[in-house]
Amino acid sequence: MSRIRIVEILRRETSPGCLTVRGWVRTKRDAKAFSFLELNDGSCLGNLQVVADATLPGYEEAVVPARTGASIEVEGEVVASQGQGQRWELRASRVTLVGTAPEDYPLQKKGHTMEFMRSIAHLRPRSNLFGAVFRIRSRMAYAIHQFFQERGFVYVHTPIITASDCEGAGEMFRVVTMEGEKIRSGTEEFFGKPTYLTVSGQLEGETFACALSNIYTFGPTFRAENSHTSRHAAEFWMIEPEIAFCDLEGDMALAEGMVKYLVNDALLNCAEDLDFCNRHVDKGLIERLEFVRDRVFERVSYTDAVNLLLASGQNFEYPVEYGQPLQSEHERFLTEHHFRCPTTVYNYPKEIKPFYMRRNDDGKTVAAMDLLVPGIGEIVGGSQREERLEVLLANLREQGLEASAYDWYVDLRRYGTVPHAGFGLGFERLLMFITGVANIRDVIPFPRTPGSAEF
Ligand code: 4AD
Ligand code: MG
Repeated sequence: MSRIRIVEILRRETSPGCLTVRGWVRTKRDAKAFSFLELNDGSCLGNLQVVADATLPGYEEAVVPARTGASIEVEGEVVASQGQGQRWELRASRVTLVGTAPEDYPLQKKGHTMEFMRSIAHLRPRSNLFGAVFRIRSRMAYAIHQFFQERGFVYVHTPIITASDCEGAGEMFRVVTMEGEKIRSGTEEFFGKPTYLTVSGQLEGETFACALSNIYTFGPTFRAENSHTSRHAAEFWMIEPEIAFCDLEGDMALAEGMVKYLVNDALLNCAEDLDFCNRHVDKGLIERLEFVRDRVFERVSYTDAVNLLLASGQNFEYPVEYGQPLQSEHERFLTEHHFRCPTTVYNYPKEIKPFYMRRNDDGKTVAAMDLLVPGIGEIVGGSQREERLEVLLANLREQGLEASAYDWYVDLRRYGTVPHAGFGLGFERLLMFITGVANIRDVIPFPRTPGSAEF
């Protein structure tokens, strides 16, 4: 008898016959002569209805105590269902109780808040919503590799422990060594210098792009920013492509193309889970995703965006001013009200951007770009990199950074320098956009945010 995932049964046109399934009981209903168990194994949203006859051998020991949350193994025959709502059901010939669950199993049928679900993060993937979100997360990770591999990009594993602050914002976690319970003094001796958890693999990624031409990274990144927003996590995953012989235009085109590719992939391969999100999380979700798939994105320079915001007559909490970063309310106004479309803002004032961005000929701006989407704001941040040695050294000086700390990075400009560009796509921000889930904590299996590192 073959073992099979429930998704394969539910999608069958003809009955697969006799087989064994394993999973967790979502609900059980007892009639006089039968029990109906809704069985889910996480392979898809749908449950397989198991019909267990009260005359089954072992019914008392296995079926009666198989409450919501219990794990069971069922052998039986897949037959056309007489009930409404499903094509197939499993007529059990044997039920084995693998693990019991108590009456107060925390995940009851309906009506749990997202906050409560976070407090049971070890059980929440068993719910419809979180099952759907994490299947989509897995598919999107796969599609990201597929997108780059199809285009000949090389996947580079950049280090998690690093000695340089890529973004220059100082929002880093320090790496220390322990002596029992205590931090060992002189701890930097382990590496010979202070080290941190990486905020970005970009600088290391650039070295590989300047050898292998097209590369990408995809891994965890860490930011010690004390931001209590629905879009910031202390640990998140980032995808960072870096392309040699590429300018800002090519960089923006890649970012836009990638977002469209991923949206299209989700629509094709996560239809059932997206439909669930559309019904239970965000009613306009699928319509918005189809729009994003089909529509050419907008682009606007930072200067034009500022003028447009100033002319909007909107009463923003943070005043709009040339030379200041765009706040999330400004970004959302642009994508949700003005353009009503994903929008790339480019050429930002040099003062508000890191040292590595390429200085534009106007002397005031750098070749930076942020891709903004409705509902979230920034999901991509990127730039063309400063490939001119003298300009890069001047940038480091201007920003008060020690050029010697970036020796190896500066060397790339000494040995066969090339124009190059790249960006970082926040994986969780992308998932929020694709699922409609409003809080970043709810697209991360075990979220880490200020004050919270449970599980
Ligand atoms: O704009 P950021 O800071 O850019 C960089 O790190 C560059 N080194 C990327 C590059 O050019 N290779 O971050 C990139 C993206 C943001 O657009 C956002 O989507 C995400 O990373 N991000 C966060 N996501 C969740 N929580 C946080 N605290 C995030 N900070 C940035
Ligand atoms: Mg950014």
